[in-house]
Amino acid sequence: MKRDSFGSRFGALVAMAGSAVGLGNLWRFPYLVGENGGAAFIIIYILLSFIICLPIFVSEFVLGRRSQKNAYAAFRDLSGGSAWKYVGLMTVIVPLVVASYYSVIGGWSFEYLFKACTFSFNGSQASMSSMFTDFVSSPWAPLICHTIFLLTTCLIVVVGIKDGIEKFSKVMMPLLFFIVIAIAIYSVCLPGAKAGLDYLFNPDFSKIDGKAIAAALGQAFFSLSLGFGTILTYASYVDKKENALFQSTATAVSDLMFALIAGMAIMPAVFAFGLNPQSGPGLVFETLPFVFGQMPAGGFIAILFFVALLVAALTSSISMIEVAVAYLMEEKKFSRIGACAALFALCWTVGTMCSLSFGPLSDFTIGGRTIFDFFDNLSSNILMTLGSLLTVIFVGWRLKKTDVYDEFTNGGSLSTNVKVFGVLWFLIRYICPLAIIFIFVYGLVA
Ligand code: PFF
Repeated sequence: MKRDSFGSRFGALVAMAGSAVGLGNLWRFPYLVGENGGAAFIIIYILLSFIICLPIFVSEFVLGRRSQKNAYAAFRDLSGGSAWKYVGLMTVIVPLVVASYYSVIGGWSFEYLFKACTFSFNGSQASMSSMFTDFVSSPWAPLICHTIFLLTTCLIVVVGIKDGIEKFSKVMMPLLFFIVIAIAIYSVCLPGAKAGLDYLFNPDFSKIDGKAIAAALGQAFFSLSLGFGTILTYASYVDKKENALFQSTATAVSDLMFALIAGMAIMPAVFAFGLNPQSGPGLVFETLPFVFGQMPAGGFIAILFFVALLVAALTSSISMIEVAVAYLMEEKKFSRIGACAALFALCWTVGTMCSLSFGPLSDFTIGGRTIFDFFDNLSSNILMTLGSLLTVIFVGWRLKKTDVYDEFTNGGSLSTNVKVFGVLWFLIRYICPLAIIFIFVYGLVA
């Protein structure tokens, strides 16, 4: 049977950007920037994104497009069947863990979109906080939302690459972009918005230390979906004529732009109402609903915001599920629908435990962490970094340089890629692995 593929350059691009742009951009980046020195952090983030992350992105792209296979088979076949295939297997499993807990938060976005549509954000700050705590700690409502979110994800994936993932991303990504830009313009025009812009963009180099750099790198990995097999899998559906450098750079730039615009949508509004920004769930589900309740036309802005959050989460979660769907279809001979059903069952079960860890299972801990935090920390702090490290080592030290060159330059026909290949190769072989190890170890020690 012919392998499915993306139908157009734009389609492949929005799908990759869709994977990259997600909760990471909306609820972590703005806060990390403010906490870690504003523009100084952004400069470090941009440098790391392009010097370390872009070569890793290109490495995953090369592996996927060269092999035209799922992540497991890519590592297996390109290494001549060696134990590297287990690294491939790891990159199939890790996104499933992320998909499981990501879907819990995706489910919260559903609930909050519903709340926004019924104009429920009109209480005090304390009542918004207790609304959130009551919701997440109740056993059923978050579970139902998690189920709806995961089901939606699987229903998009089951339709296939061109007709499901690509079509969905083509409609939703431009919509997402316009919504966030519209909110940013609105937010920046609020009286008192300047304090939020200062928080984001005033450079404070004294805050840049090893910890800030480790945070920037971790965020850049997560935001670009690196080390999870997603970029590899998506690239395996990209046409051989397409340009690896262009696709990778365009995704990284869109992801960065999106994160900055999200910051400009959120922080000025938070500061305009004299609040302090939090990170993660607190920012999106406690602080912002209160802000929406205070601002003129806030009810509509809230609807737009939660549509954006939901779309961003969905385009990311479909990319996580697709990694394992490709694996099950190609290696275990599942049908697409069978693979989606099996993965739904698996992620639903793990996600359910994560969801309950905010309520009935909150006392159950692993290594001092709740189930949700345990999976989040394991996958996005440890396994993702390991996946990225092993990917660059594989491409830089195991693949033949001529093969990487061939794939990256489309057989020598792309002149810019030919020119930059030397620098890229040097980064992949030496700088990326050393930087990842150094920053990872430093992050652990600090
Ligand atoms: N890049 C996504 C975000 O910023 O929210 C998260 C993500 C997507 C992680 C896909 C892993 C992945 F495979």
